[in-house]
Amino acid sequence: MRFFASLSLAVLALASYTTAAQTATAPKPQHAAPQVIAPTPPMGWNSWNFFNRSVDDKKVRAAADQIVATGMKDAGYIYVNIDDTWEGERDARGVLHSNEKFPDMKALADYVHSKGLKIGIYSGPGSKTCAGFAASLDHEVQDAELYAHWGIDYLKYDLCSFRQDVMAKQAPNDKAEQMRLMIDAYDKMGRALMSTGRPIVYSLCQYGWDAPWEWAPGIGGNLWRTTGDVQANWGSIYDIINQQAGLAKYAGPGHWNDPDMLEVGNGKLSPAENRSHFSMWAMLAAPLLAGNDLPNMTPEVKAILTNRDVIAIDQDKLGREGTRAYADGEVEVWTRHLSGGAMAVAVLNVGADRWSSHPFHLSLAKLGLHGPQKGKDLWTGQDVTLTENQPIELASHDILLVRIAAPR
Ligand code: GLA
Repeated sequence: MRFFASLSLAVLALASYTTAAQTATAPKPQHAAPQVIAPTPPMGWNSWNFFNRSVDDKKVRAAADQIVATGMKDAGYIYVNIDDTWEGERDARGVLHSNEKFPDMKALADYVHSKGLKIGIYSGPGSKTCAGFAASLDHEVQDAELYAHWGIDYLKYDLCSFRQDVMAKQAPNDKAEQMRLMIDAYDKMGRALMSTGRPIVYSLCQYGWDAPWEWAPGIGGNLWRTTGDVQANWGSIYDIINQQAGLAKYAGPGHWNDPDMLEVGNGKLSPAENRSHFSMWAMLAAPLLAGNDLPNMTPEVKAILTNRDVIAIDQDKLGREGTRAYADGEVEVWTRHLSGGAMAVAVLNVGADRWSSHPFHLSLAKLGLHGPQKGKDLWTGQDVTLTENQPIELASHDILLVRIAAPR
């Protein structure tokens, strides 16, 4: 098994040289546009938020099955991402093997692909992942080739032990140098992925350290975490929403701010909180990676995750992230400019225990709009008209999300 894995890597390397040589002499295709990876925010599922360390081959296959059976695939969810704890040991040649929970990673990737889906995996630049499994330090090229050989389409690369292994060791008293070392490490894996020739979405997970929105696109990053880990409670979700203010200008096709994976359907989030969380991730042009137990999801949670109108806001091809237009007391108003001149408006009651007994009054003028605006309420599906100074009552943590096709 081990021998086979290294042998097939060698064969693979040989095959890619042959392909390169053939391409050199082949006539150039006309009008070949360069391929943009992640032209819209990636959509799919990730194992961590619900299964944590207990993820295994069976659960990943079940998630893939459910993505198809529930209609999530048709709604745009494509990536089935295995997070931490799949990693086994390296053999004498340094080739990493999956652990006993994942007996055959290539077979699993083939299975996921056979459903018309894509598969993602997880590692990091340090010697160990956050859960203490083998990571990619000094094996970056080897690991990237292994992923390509397995047929991996997405890599989440998590900083974790690189902080102690390299940053603290090599530059104990020099923060700036530590950050340079970190960026170099992400660059190294970015180049390793690129040189496999396989389009692999590159997801940076280093919790927003050193403003990754400024440098990640330049090293091939398709998305970068902007904060620490999300948790399945409103405090965490709102804290993350709040930290996105000011980052919109850095997002666009192929490179996205990542406020972390979805917790919709997890913990004790109320229906309003699930709706608001999902709506705000759409407003933020965030990756939509469901993080719940798909085989046991309730019809309500499924309806939220597959709301096509809300997904269309997230996936809008213009790729302009929404911004907070203004806040008034505990109510916030966010807007997002969409292709074709349309606009999404989100009115969010972030207050803890208030059913707004004093209704909030919407100011269209503050959104640059004048006069009544015809739109669609994306959660009721009803046509609505927003008017200047309109009173809006929202339960605690609930949201009004309206798409205005022709804002004036
Ligand atoms: C970090 C990441 C999480 C998850 C875990 C896995 O905490 O931020 O998203 O990947 O590691 O150990």
